[in-house]
Amino acid sequence: MSREEFPTDRPAVVTCGLPYANGDLHIGHLRGYIGADAFDRALEALGQQSAYVCGSDMHGTPVAVNAEREGVDPETFALRWHERYEETFPEFGVDFDNYGHTHDATNVETTVEIVRTLEEEGHVYEREIQVAYDPDADQYLPDRYVVGTCPYCGAHARGDECDEGCQRHLEPGEIEEPRSSITDNPAEYRERSHRFFRVSAFEEFLTEFLDGLEGTSNARNQPRQWIEDGLQDWCITRDMDWGIDYPGDDDLVLYVWVDAPIEYISSTKQYSEGADEYDWEEVWTGDGEIVHVIGRDIIQHHTIFWPAMLEGVGYNTPRAVAATGFITIDGKGLSTSRNRAIWAREYLDEGFHPDLLRYYLTTTGGLQQDVDFTWTAFQEKVNGELVGTVGNFLYRSLLFAHRNYGGTPDAELTPEVRARIEDATEAFHEAVNDYSLRGVGRAAVRLAQFGNEYIQRNEPWKLTDDEPETAARVIRDCVQIAKAVGILIYPIAPEKAQRLWEQLGEEGTVADAVVEDALGAPARSFGEPGELFEKIEDDRVEELEAKLEAKIEAAANDAEPAGEDETGTDAETESDESGPDEATGMTDTDGLEPLREERISFDDFQELDVRVGRIEAAEGVDGADDLARLEVDVGFETRQVVAGIKRLHDLEELPGEKCILLANMEPAELFGVESNGMILAAGEEADLLTTHGDAEVGEKVR
Ligand code: MF3
Ligand code: ZN
Repeated sequence: MSREEFPTDRPAVVTCGLPYANGDLHIGHLRGYIGADAFDRALEALGQQSAYVCGSDMHGTPVAVNAEREGVDPETFALRWHERYEETFPEFGVDFDNYGHTHDATNVETTVEIVRTLEEEGHVYEREIQVAYDPDADQYLPDRYVVGTCPYCGAHARGDECDEGCQRHLEPGEIEEPRSSITDNPAEYRERSHRFFRVSAFEEFLTEFLDGLEGTSNARNQPRQWIEDGLQDWCITRDMDWGIDYPGDDDLVLYVWVDAPIEYISSTKQYSEGADEYDWEEVWTGDGEIVHVIGRDIIQHHTIFWPAMLEGVGYNTPRAVAATGFITIDGKGLSTSRNRAIWAREYLDEGFHPDLLRYYLTTTGGLQQDVDFTWTAFQEKVNGELVGTVGNFLYRSLLFAHRNYGGTPDAELTPEVRARIEDATEAFHEAVNDYSLRGVGRAAVRLAQFGNEYIQRNEPWKLTDDEPETAARVIRDCVQIAKAVGILIYPIAPEKAQRLWEQLGEEGTVADAVVEDALGAPARSFGEPGELFEKIEDDRVEELEAKLEAKIEAAANDAEPAGEDETGTDAETESDESGPDEATGMTDTDGLEPLREERISFDDFQELDVRVGRIEAAEGVDGADDLARLEVDVGFETRQVVAGIKRLHDLEELPGEKCILLANMEPAELFGVESNGMILAAGEEADLLTTHGDAEVGEKVR
């Protein structure tokens, strides 16, 4: 099923995962908020009506546990963080149309209404279950109050999520060897009556829903696997005080994952109240476009529980779920408790403009790739693309325009340049429809790169005396390109784009411009431009890298306190052991990785035994998010190979496909599975290499 492209004539809502109101934000969090913000702005630039909403996630054990540790009541504690977030987001240009919280009246009301409807529709039942209990603390141990071993993959896990292993949601009672995170006592079990949402009844609906779901491929492929493994009903109540009371049973509160996503609706409602032209009902109960940007650790909640809930009450379901990878440092996940992170505040205190981080976070790697943060890579992107390409083009052309013509010279736009701008806006349009922020950034930067080549090739500075008309035309072209670059880079670097807009003497704000305006007549006159971006010096980077290294070392020596929150975007997962890169030999094919200087001999090449193979079988490796186990016929024998393609391909479609295999790769063991060869693939989606003619299985690639 393919949907009508953006822009559509229906309203859209873009959301990002609600931050738990329980601690400072770091760049791992910001990746999602900035990404969703940029996507919302990009939709609007296409002329799509769109709202960007979010709110703080106030309930649940992530908040209760941390509040308790500070000796504050959870409400006061959560509100304090909520207020902090309200201040922080705008500092990064994250411009929500509404930012509420899950404890506010709108959300409590909406949640109660939805749960009541689910009950009325027969989707909820009551069942006795064994819940963990700590006799010394004299309290039940929901979710993060209990730690133990994941029954699926054996990793250390929390009561409701396998955060360090397979990322599965765990139901109460599922965790093995449970211990209290308050006293470290082994947990006892007590029988309690709880409410369950009949998720298992939604199998058929969810299968179809996933087939039509847009966004990143991991958000379709992972849940398909979970459905295949068998859907379990979902316990939606907890033995806690902090939360929204279960309607009609105030002994229990709702599980935080019920009322949190409902805030997406509540926040849209709140926005709608102040915006006449925006109708929340059209979005949530009609057929508007719902786009969720989330971290990849909460895919299950957004592609199984949430759409089932929406379907259960007869609401609209998401058009897209875009699940971002994690930010790592030194290959390891960020950790709030260990201070292994770059904090939002810390970044600003270093004096860097927010748009630089926005650019780095949205255009380094594809959305679903994990990105290893280094200040050196940050510097390279800023100096190379923003300063070297974009800033350089804008400054030289606008300065020339201002000095020689006081603004835009009176001349016709050259057809070649018009075509280039049209291509760039088309690339932008496609990137938005592909949920590729990197593509959005690239559309802008490539156009600026063309601008540089164009001005260089035409050398207008040599023409002003002898061929004034040609010179004027070239500069007219460049001003047009500059205006287009401003519109195209706006979603990612909104403040810088606005400054450019002002330099260009344009009226209004670049936020109100749409891509068609890229070809609109530029303002006749403008003043002397300033440099938009500033180079980051090497010694600055050395100093920052050293600081970061010291921090990482300190973090490594610091043990993790039990039950400490790692928040949604932290990744203490398999990423240090494996990842797409290691397992498939994939590298970033963005074109940004320069070609290698050093050459190898033909003999060296002959050392590689590269063969045509045929995939015979493919299945996920238990406990590993990314890894698939493949059996590959290589003519003489069948090889078992582990490849980092689990989330990137529909594994059931692979058998029968030809592939290219490096057969004499030394064997390696990944997640206990031996890998005996390496499948070749390219690009962030692990596009598998193959042959296109009649090369037979077993044939050597030469
Ligand atoms: N607070 C959750 C986390 O950080 C995310 C909630 S997202 C929503 O993991 F869907 F519930 F809204
Ligand atoms: Zn697990």
